[in-house]
Amino acid sequence: MPFYITTAISYVNGAPHLGHAYEAIATDVIARHMRQRHDEVFFLTGTDEHGEPIADAAHALGITPQELADQHAAQFKAMTAQLNISNDFFIRTTDPEHERCVQEVLQRVHDNGHTYKGVYEGWYCPRCADFKVENEILEGNLCPIHETPLVREQEENWFFRLSSFQQPLEQLFAQRPDFVMPVVRYNEARAFIESGLQDVSLSRARMHWGVTVPWDHGHVFYVWFDALLNYYTALRYARDGEDLTSKFWPATYHVIGKDILKFHTVFWPAMLMAAGIEVPEHVFVHGFLLGSDGRKMSKSLGNVLDPSEVVDRFGTDALRFYLMRDVAFGGDGAVGMSGVTVRYENELANEYGNLASRTLAMLVRYREGTVPAVGTDPVLLAEFAPLPAQVAALLDRAEPSQALELIWQRVRRLNRYVEERAPWQLAREPALADQLDQTLASLHEGVRVVTVLLHPFMPASAERLLGALGADGADGWRYPAAAFAANGSGARVEQQPPLFPKR
Ligand code: MF3
Repeated sequence: MPFYITTAISYVNGAPHLGHAYEAIATDVIARHMRQRHDEVFFLTGTDEHGEPIADAAHALGITPQELADQHAAQFKAMTAQLNISNDFFIRTTDPEHERCVQEVLQRVHDNGHTYKGVYEGWYCPRCADFKVENEILEGNLCPIHETPLVREQEENWFFRLSSFQQPLEQLFAQRPDFVMPVVRYNEARAFIESGLQDVSLSRARMHWGVTVPWDHGHVFYVWFDALLNYYTALRYARDGEDLTSKFWPATYHVIGKDILKFHTVFWPAMLMAAGIEVPEHVFVHGFLLGSDGRKMSKSLGNVLDPSEVVDRFGTDALRFYLMRDVAFGGDGAVGMSGVTVRYENELANEYGNLASRTLAMLVRYREGTVPAVGTDPVLLAEFAPLPAQVAALLDRAEPSQALELIWQRVRRLNRYVEERAPWQLAREPALADQLDQTLASLHEGVRVVTVLLHPFMPASAERLLGALGADGADGWRYPAAAFAANGSGARVEQQPPLFPKR
């Protein structure tokens, strides 16, 4: 079953920050997990380069929007590399292939009779590039997201008949309770639809930085429709000479932040229906990362966590682990350097890193580095047997933090197992050699299993450890390898420097 997952694409009016890193990491964890289970996975990320947010920022700097986009797109690409993100393609909405495909799809929407020319009058946030409807506006005419004043806009636009999709959208939500997850966001989107849909602008006459409307050259498409279509257009040209659309469309998961819910769960499915294209299967919505004081991160409050600083001090895997572990996916969460330090020391270095080092050291010391070819402990076997299916079920419901918690309970269980069995005592009694064999084989197997399941969260560390465990065969990292049995019998292990050295 082909599996297609996307992040939202980032505006290139600024450099990447922790919020971008978080979404990229969470999506990468799910994508990597799906690659453990499925042969065909496509993971897309990229940049959103048109519209007012970019045109205004470039103007303020005295450079062209394209120059600004090129600078920041390069930084976003560098971020994906730094974070070990496994995307299969990086789309930029200024790619000519994307622009052509946007025109083609929206021409179809026009030909199908879903557009008309009219005068838009209403409140607009230039930073969101969003026309706000009455019930979204904060007191004093402020943007609900930026809390900055909205501007009154009046211009002749092409409109998209969103209102005529009221019923089809209601039906979509009624038929698919898992279309939007978690359920609070499903309810929020549903309530927005049920409050009554108004038509929305499809084009802008006053903006020039965008994709030209093919049937009216004085207009460019409203940036959100151009942007949303990236998910669809990328499949057309991501691979030279190959169209991946029929293999991967409809998308399995769009991963987004809660601030852009309306676009992805209302505008986007309606637009696809209007073009006669299947709607995506699920939208996964995450919350916001807050400063360690629980307030919105801002330079002036001094509560910003810089992802590069975490990577420099603790490594990429530590940042990935920390964000997935400390913030329950879907909710908001306060994060900060002291939290990173505590999790790094207590969990990565002491719990997991030490478990790995001790297991390898004991195998080298007591069994010359070869995993005894004996059965594993039935008690551990029973405890580990349900784990892979539980982890998979949680990831299918967009609960990576819960999945990580379940895996971590097993890491802790293995540490208790070492204490219970005290292999150093067994090693003193030649008559207990069988027990020592079983203990060491079980520990090796347990560490191997948790490491396979942790691979999507901390790919580089997991690969190193699987190598040291002698378990890095071609399929050693895949989901079937997470079954607890006696897979390590006869494997050769090697001691290695600590996975998570003290900082
Ligand atoms: N650039 C938008 C933002 O940062 C997100 C666009 S996602 C898309 O809020 F799907 F619409 F492209």
